[in-house]
Amino acid sequence: MSKDETVTEQYDRDDNHFQFAEANAPIDYEPYRQSYKLPEWKDTKGRYSKRPSRDLGTDRNTDKSVYHSRDIMEQEWERIWSKVWLLVGHLNDIPKPNAFMKVDRAHESVLVVRGEGDSIRAMYNVCQHRGARLVEQDFGTTKKFVCPFHMWEFSSNGELLKITDRETFREEALCHNLDLPEVRSAVYRGWIFITFNDDAGPLEDYLGSEFLKLSEAYSFENVLRIRDVQQEWPANWKISHEAFIEGYHVQATHPQLRGAVDAYHAQHDLFDNGHGLSIYQFMSPLPQFIRNLPDELAEEHKIFLREAGLTEDEWPKHWSEVPAAIIKAKLAKKDYVLDYSRFSEGQLIDDWNLGIFPTTEMFLHPEGYFIQNWLPHPNDPEKCYYTVQVYAVPGIGELPSFMAVENADMSGKRVLPRHYIDTNDYENLGPVIRQDRELVPRVQKGLHSKGFKGSVYSEQEIRIRHFFDEYSQYMSGQKG
Ligand code: FES
Ligand SMILES: [Fe+2]
Repeated sequence: MSKDETVTEQYDRDDNHFQFAEANAPIDYEPYRQSYKLPEWKDTKGRYSKRPSRDLGTDRNTDKSVYHSRDIMEQEWERIWSKVWLLVGHLNDIPKPNAFMKVDRAHESVLVVRGEGDSIRAMYNVCQHRGARLVEQDFGTTKKFVCPFHMWEFSSNGELLKITDRETFREEALCHNLDLPEVRSAVYRGWIFITFNDDAGPLEDYLGSEFLKLSEAYSFENVLRIRDVQQEWPANWKISHEAFIEGYHVQATHPQLRGAVDAYHAQHDLFDNGHGLSIYQFMSPLPQFIRNLPDELAEEHKIFLREAGLTEDEWPKHWSEVPAAIIKAKLAKKDYVLDYSRFSEGQLIDDWNLGIFPTTEMFLHPEGYFIQNWLPHPNDPEKCYYTVQVYAVPGIGELPSFMAVENADMSGKRVLPRHYIDTNDYENLGPVIRQDRELVPRVQKGLHSKGFKGSVYSEQEIRIRHFFDEYSQYMSGQKG
């Protein structure tokens, strides 16, 4: 079998919308360029411009131990995860006084409790008697936390309220502060962050001006969590995360998106503190597959057209007219739950993915946000926890299919529980993420091979280099 036939077979394995170009048909590659810039018609008001490219070199990433060494896993906890600000939820997840949520990060567990107004308090979820974990529930409301082991009681503020059989403790044994120790927390426009680092600078400095400016248009304060899934993946957290900060794999791993997501022309911008932005061009096909693309619309086009409020008779006949039709329809909407005029045209259709170091990826659309994290496992460097939360603006219609939201309750009357799915449950991941879930462990397996000397990266994968640039600064002690 020739090389071309092998490629064709791989690309055709589960196409369900389109017949794609023959693999041996010529592709008009443009010469190498370092970055791609969005077309001007997607930003006529000049709200966002491409940030200068950064040359992060061409070295091969040869230190494979970062993906499987226990020593490195422990150093990462001490030098990175314990130092940075971590996004853990939203004020609307704990909507009233005494509502709480439990947040687990590796071996640590934290309770975040809502106070009066927008105030919150985060505390270690550990009884001060003999160290039992106080709470196992993810979300709830309580005036006090009662330890299940010997029934010591703590207020929702963390104050020790009651010691069972107090008279059997000698005074000296209790002459310590036995309240629940506080964890630093901060809220930015509804989002709750914590840090285990008492010396960390302010949250807004950590997020940086690019993040703050870019996220301005989104309705962060008003969103509701409508999907929340966690799953253990048999791969290191970095391997898993890497697959979500490059669009290079879309053409191979997600064939059903080839007609509607032009990841080849994704714009990647690198910010300070390891944060970044990837803009994936939605509603446009990958250039490699334009030849022979049928005129009719893909399901993804139809979702976006419906969301924009266009009825079927108003839909364009050809896919190339879809982006402009959606932008026009959204901007024409009056008295809608969203003011689309606050966004650049590109934000109305494209996927704006804001990444917060180390692994928070917020895929932002005006209507809803798909927020993923790949969290370190407490004791196994070759596993991680994949988490996805979808937050949506109440009153919107459909969300892009990759968000895998069905029958969402947007009433705000009930706090959605977290849904833990079995490690081999692909169905509950939705059609796109399941493909990543299948691929990522193959990388974890392959990197152990003596026959693999380390990753090489295209400039489509520049954010992986950027991640490791920041990672090395923390791991070497330059930062943190
Ligand atoms: S460990 Fe909590 S009351 Fe004993
Ligand atoms: Fe993917």
